Amino acid sequence: MSTTFNFIRKNVFVVGGTSGINFGIASGFARWGANVVVASRKEQKVANAVAELKALGASANGVTLDVRDYEQVEDGFESACKFLGGDIDILISGAAGNFPARVNDMSPNAIRSVLEIDLLGTFHVMRAGFNYLKKPGASVINISAPQAFLPMAHQAHVCAAKAGVDMVTRTLSMEWGQDGVRVNSIVPGPIAGTEGMDRLSPTPDLQAAVAKSVPLKRLGEFHDIAHAAGMLCAEESSYISGVVLPVDGGWSQTGATSVMDKMSRMLDTIKP
Ligand code: HXC
Ligand code: NAP
Repeated sequence: MSTTFNFIRKNVFVVGGTSGINFGIASGFARWGANVVVASRKEQKVANAVAELKALGASANGVTLDVRDYEQVEDGFESACKFLGGDIDILISGAAGNFPARVNDMSPNAIRSVLEIDLLGTFHVMRAGFNYLKKPGASVINISAPQAFLPMAHQAHVCAAKAGVDMVTRTLSMEWGQDGVRVNSIVPGPIAGTEGMDRLSPTPDLQAAVAKSVPLKRLGEFHDIAHAAGMLCAEESSYISGVVLPVDGGWSQTGATSVMDKMSRMLDTIKP
């Protein structure tokens, strides 16, 4: 077990935690001694993620759910807490869907699907999850994206949904503070080896250009985001709530609009 943080006997539930950045967060907490449950739609992905967490030596389990369906989310919390043997200390909500498309090329259902996964899904996880949080003391993190405050062509659905996610975070930090529950957002920058980057920067050249546009001159890694989550959830951070925290090598400070324009021009050339 890594001793970077101590989360021994803490109960962690990561919704959307079976791949990519969120699985990286789940793995971090597993290494730091927590009991971890991950959830997503696809049974096989859930099973694979649980096996990998167990291989790290963690007590781990998984539940299958779609965040668009409130009943499935409620049932997921009930199953997770049964496995964990108690309430949740740390809740990470990061399920998301993304495809690049201009608004004129999206059907109403296409727009709805991303809003339902990212924004309504966040509401569902927050609304159902509150009853299962350890109070006082629980820490909640919503996973946002730079699109929440940087407009990008091909991303209107994601921009709108993630801006909403951050306002849910900020509002709940006010509503739940009296219960001793902290709520924060992490805004990952461009992270290497992810579904999100593959969809938005589909060529090595473009990924290199994105990396160059980051002040720290590299793409982020899974551990960068996991460590930010560990820092925010540590007891030492018990006065941090309502924060929307970019973890992006300074990318958002640059505005990042020129490279995002480049990304969207490239996406135009590969669209049918
Ligand atoms: C236009 C599209 C489209 C595209 C799908 N649709 N792809 N429209 N352009 N490229 C339309 C479909 O035609 C359909 O509309 C509607 O969207 C729903 O599609 P389904 O495939 O039926 O939906 P579903 O199976 O529920 O899948 C949801 C999904 C999918 C969002 C479309 O991509 C998904 O499951 N994604 C999860 C993984 C993911 O996206 N990870 C990356 C997260 S990264 P019609 O009208 O035909 O029914 C991220 C930020 C990255 O969020 C930031 C990087 C810097
Ligand atoms: P990813 O691997 O596709 O992760 C998305 C996760 O959400 C998967 O576990 C997926 O599993 C789950 N999921 C999707 N739809 C769901 C639904 N309806 N119900 C329940 N679970 C669902 O993508 P990623 O790129 O690592 O992104 C992870 C998070 O980071 C997202 O919130 C994304 O917006 C954010 N982010 C990513 C980047 C980046 O560089 N990649 C940058 C900024 C922010 P199933 O398919 O099994 O459902």
